[in-house]
Amino acid sequence: MKILVINGPNLARLDIRDSSIYGDLNYGELKSLIEISAKAHGLEADIRQSDDEATIIGWLHEAADKKLPVIINPAAFTHYSYAIRDAAELLTSPLIEVHLSNPMSREEFRHTSVISGVANGTIAGFGPNSYVLAIIALKNLIG
Ligand code: DQA
Repeated sequence: MKILVINGPNLARLDIRDSSIYGDLNYGELKSLIEISAKAHGLEADIRQSDDEATIIGWLHEAADKKLPVIINPAAFTHYSYAIRDAAELLTSPLIEVHLSNPMSREEFRHTSVISGVANGTIAGFGPNSYVLAIIALKNLIG
């Protein structure tokens, strides 16, 4: 079964982001980890990244139309994009929100997620393993 993994702004630049916050993997390595973990659970991950809100909204519309389960790290959009939230609300298949870091232990503006309310669940704070845990959670939800 296909799943869509959507990564938001600046996540393709993990190579130059703070590794003490986001972990040691660059984006290519993170993609491989996601791909391999998905395969191990019988899932085919279509992994995408964009810095552009409209592109992410388009991908969520596509997932809604194709009834695809989604894992999303909306990155900074997590905290203020009502447009991404409204698009995520259109999904009929499960949606898992993931974060590499634990936003609740960081600056106050990161304590709000406008996405969580339309996700089945959120996994945060485990570095790249957040995605591995999200794949397990998604697999359990879709059976
Ligand atoms: C993030 C957390 C966000 O607050 C931040 O803006 C990101 C990454 C994470 O994966 O920890 O870009 O979503």
